[in-house]
Parts: sequence; C-alpha cells; structure tokens
Amino acid sequence: MPLPEGFLQELKMRNDITEVASSYMNLARRGRNMVGLCPFHGEKTPSFNIYTENGSFYCFGCGVGGDIITFIMKIENLDYIDAVKFLAQRAGMEMPENTFDDSMSQLRKRIYEANRQAARFFHKQLYSPIGEKGLSYFHSRELADTTIKHFGLGYADSDRFSLCNHLKSLGFKNSEIVAANLAFQSKRSNSIYDRFNDRVMFPIIDLRGNVIAFGGRILTDEKPKYLNTSDTPVFKKSANLFSLNNAKNTGSRTLILCEGYMDVIAVNQAGIQNAVATLGTALTSEQALLMKRYADEVIICYDADEAGQKATQRAIELLRNAGLSIKVISIPQGKDPDEFLRGKGDKGGQAFRNVIERSGNDIEYRLSKAKSKFNMEASEDKVSYLNEAVKILATLDNAVEQEVYASKLSAEIGVSKEAVMQQLKKQVSKRYKEKRTKEFRGIQSRLNGRDDKVNTDRYQKPRVTAAEEALIAYIIKHPDRISYVNSKLSDDKFQTAFNKKLYIYIRDRIKEGKDPLTTVSGDFTTEEAAKIYQIANSYSTQIATDKSMQEYIDVINDEFLKYKTKDAGNASMEDIQERLRRLKDNHQ
Ligand code: GTP
Ligand code: MN
Repeated sequence: MPLPEGFLQELKMRNDITEVASSYMNLARRGRNMVGLCPFHGEKTPSFNIYTENGSFYCFGCGVGGDIITFIMKIENLDYIDAVKFLAQRAGMEMPENTFDDSMSQLRKRIYEANRQAARFFHKQLYSPIGEKGLSYFHSRELADTTIKHFGLGYADSDRFSLCNHLKSLGFKNSEIVAANLAFQSKRSNSIYDRFNDRVMFPIIDLRGNVIAFGGRILTDEKPKYLNTSDTPVFKKSANLFSLNNAKNTGSRTLILCEGYMDVIAVNQAGIQNAVATLGTALTSEQALLMKRYADEVIICYDADEAGQKATQRAIELLRNAGLSIKVISIPQGKDPDEFLRGKGDKGGQAFRNVIERSGNDIEYRLSKAKSKFNMEASEDKVSYLNEAVKILATLDNAVEQEVYASKLSAEIGVSKEAVMQQLKKQVSKRYKEKRTKEFRGIQSRLNGRDDKVNTDRYQKPRVTAAEEALIAYIIKHPDRISYVNSKLSDDKFQTAFNKKLYIYIRDRIKEGKDPLTTVSGDFTTEEAAKIYQIANSYSTQIATDKSMQEYIDVINDEFLKYKTKDAGNASMEDIQERLRRLKDNHQ
C-alpha cells in the first residue's frame, strides 16, 4: 500500500523546500525561483534551481531533480521511506500506520542496532582479559583511555563466533548480522561466522550518531593491515568520512584530511578535533561535496610517500571542483600525523599547529612539485618549468592571486612579469574556453538526448519527444484541460515509451482528482523523477497556451502517421525475409 496522498501533501506543505534546502546550501532569489551552487556536483556558477511554485528542484549542470523527498533522499543518503520519515519527524508529524512497505527501513534499523551492540561488545572486550592484547596495542601507540573511550574503540577477539553468538543472544537473526557485514554466511552449512577476528576496532559513526561500519586493524605486520565493512544498506564507503561526526561540531570551517584512522585519532588526542579520513579508499567527489557542507577550507595531510603524493594531487582536483580552498601540509621527515605526534605528549598540539601554520596552498604545493622535476640552471628546463607553472596558475580564479604568483615566478626564473602575465592570460582564456565548451556540450548532449537514460527513444525521435514533453508540461499546469486533450489524442499516439507511461500516469491521477506530481518521488526511480521535474519546470507558462497545446497534439498525431507508414513498409520487407528464412529452414 502506498502512503496516503493527504499525508504526503501535508508533509510537503509543512516542509518548505526552500527552507529545508537552505540548511544544506546557500540560496539566492532569482525571480520566483531560488538558485544556488549544486550540492550534488562541483560547480562555481549556480545551476541548481528551486521552483517554489511546485516545490521542486532541478540542476541544469548535472541533471538531478525532484521534490523535497528526492532532495532528502539524495543529500542524506536515505531511501524513499526513510526520507519521508525524516521529513515527518522534522515537521512533527506522525507516520501513518501499516500503509507502506517498510521492510527495507526495518532492516536498516536492525543493522544500526546490531552495529551499536557490536561496538559495545568490542569495547567491552577491549577492557576484559580477552582484549588485553588489543588494549596494550593501543597503549603502545600512545592512546590514552579517554581517547579510546571517546572514539569507542574496541577489540574483536580471535574466537570466530563470539560476536555472532553475542548478537544472536540479543535476538538478532543470522540474516540481519550478515546484512550488517558483521558476519559471513558459511558456504557449507547455514551457520555464520564473525567478519572481524583478532583486530582492534574503529567504529565509524554517521552524522546522526549511528554506528554504520567498522575498520579493523591487525596487531601484527600481517596483511591486510586494515579490514573495513563492505557496503551495506546503511553504509556506503565512498560517501562517508571517519570522524566527521566529531569534526562538524568544532565551529571551524576548516577540515584536516588525513589518510588513516590512527592519524585522525592522534590529531584529536592532541586537541585538534576537525580531522577526518576516508575509509580505506581514495577520496571521492561525493566525499569532497560532503566536506564542502561543513567547511570552506581543507588541509590535506597525506603521507609523504609516492602513493600519498599521488593521492594529494587527486584530492586537490576533487576538492577544488567542490569549491573548497586547499592547503597542503608537509610533515617533516615524511612522517604521517600519528608518527609526528608520537612522543610529543602535551606539546603535540602546538607542534602540529606550527606545521599547519607553515603549510602552503595547493598552488604552492603544485608549483614546488613541478619545479622539482627540472634543473633550474638549464635554460630549456626553465622554459619548460615556466610553461608548466603557467598552467598551474591558470587554475586560479582570482586575478589578484594570479598577479602575485606571476611576480614570484618572474623573479624566480628571471623573465619579465609582463611576459609571464601574457602567457598566463593566454592559458587562462584557453582554459576558460575549454571549460565553457565542455559545460555547453554536457547541456547540449542532455538536451538532444544522446545520453538520456530515462527516455531512451528520445535520440531516435527528437521531434515527437519534444512535443510529448511540452504537452505533458501543459497538462501539469492545466489539469482542467485533460478531458479535452484526451479526446483529441489517444494514448497509443505517444511514441516514446517513457512519455507514454508518464502521460497515462498523470492523466489517471488528474481524473481521480489528485495532484499530478505528489507521489512522483515514490512511484518512479530517482532518475525518472529528475526527468519528470525537468519536464514540469522547463516549459514556461507563456508557451503553455491552448494554441501551443493544439500544436503539440498536431505534431504527435502527424509523427504517428509518418511512423506508421514507414513502419508498414519496413514490416512487410521483414515479413518477406522472415518467410524466406522459414522456407529455407524447412527445406534443409
Ligand atoms: P597505521 O599503520 O595503523 O598507523 O595505519 P596508517 O593509517 O598509517 O596506514 P596506511 O597509511 O597504510 O593506511 C591509511 C589508511 O588506508 C588506513 O587507515 C586504512 O583506512 C586504509 N588501509 C590501509 N591498509 C589497508 C588495507 O590493507 N585494506 C584496506 N581496505 N584499507 C587499508
Ligand atoms: Mn600511521
């Protein structure tokens, strides 16, 4: 059973999309709509629109769109029912009972609960005789008990069934424990066994305080050094960050991005709480955008080894695309933050702050990396360096900054500042052109439907697709005209499968006296919902006149006739071929 219409309508009324979205991003008014930098992809000029008229959003940059429920699904990483629950809670509304399938939501709840119990169990084990090994490991790495408690660290013992047995004794089903990735299903029997053995455990906690996953480190030099929970219904590795739950509360708009759990914890112990780490994978654009919600600046603090430096270059690009300003720390003697802080005790915090103080921004970092490749005594190398340096400076958006670095560069290699500036300007305009072209191509290809994943017929039938969409948009704006349209155009005239389905869906809703779009986010996939709101919002009121409606109907009818004649011709040819084939087959 779906959720009651009346409930959904009230939910949407009580959760104003502009107000809700404003708590995740900055919005400015443009006419009747609101615009802002899209929180779902990195951009510097706003293409994210909120349409206050129908409570929806659409981003022209990346093509995401939908209603307030879709927005919450995407930004909070929730499924439909959980997003509805989230909004109901926000508005102080009760969820209607027994009217919707919430088995997935129930499973998620059980997984959260299993994870919470597992974290408690691991922590208790750490402080029991069984966990002595684990505790002395943490102590050997200079973690104080207060730190261990603060992060809820634990120990998974070497008995392969202890956590499973514990969770089962609390009433968890095998399937729930396996779904949480706390255990594996045995291939030979229907028993299950623990995922983590003889490892110290780091719980990963989301922004709502749920334990969503674990990292586990081995106590020896064996491999793999770390094991992480695989993706589960409550955990997506690529969309979460370790300790963001602590870091977001510091009030500072700076985050320190470390490579590992131990670095984050050591930095915290030194009194600096705004550190985060990825969860055993390289940084993703999703994580960069997540950081952008809590920070304006990120200090990259990766290892000095080659892998760390490669990861730094990659992170710079992702963080810049997300609109963050960047600093890059280099810790003396190529240490990681945890090694740097070791043995410093109370003085660690200050020492680490001093290192941060001396860190350069990403441009300085990239310049010095580039420079180290060249022999600055040789003239050809100087020219090569200049070319490369200019490319790096061209990524600066700020003209004053460009000037400053151009001056430095001119002094450094002994060419006039004018010459540097001239090169730089060329490079900047080249870059600008490339970017605009790319952006334009993206929008163009979305418009001409080459990569329309929802309406896959669009590319073949652009004319009728456009007419169908315009007609659907018209009907959404003028639901009272549905009988007329319906009398002039039968369903089978729609030639693109998606638009046909959508037209019938909307028509039937209107005939039942319902608002056309209220349940779109529940009845369609998120990609489909985005398309539907794009259609609903991209045809302005002036073209949604009765006269244009008549034209759309004419085009659809006209295209239908064309298609039919063509089809009949083709079909008979195929028919003949098919008969020939059968004849041959029968005579062999
Ligand atoms: P310590 O040796 O405990 O100080 O860890 P580290 O953080 O210095 O280790 P390293 O730089 O090797 O790894 C950084 C991060 O990468 C870790 O915190 C893990 O999240 C991840 N990582 C390291 N080794 C593995 C591994 O074997 N498997 C997976 N999945 N992730 C790993
Ligand atoms: Mn380390």
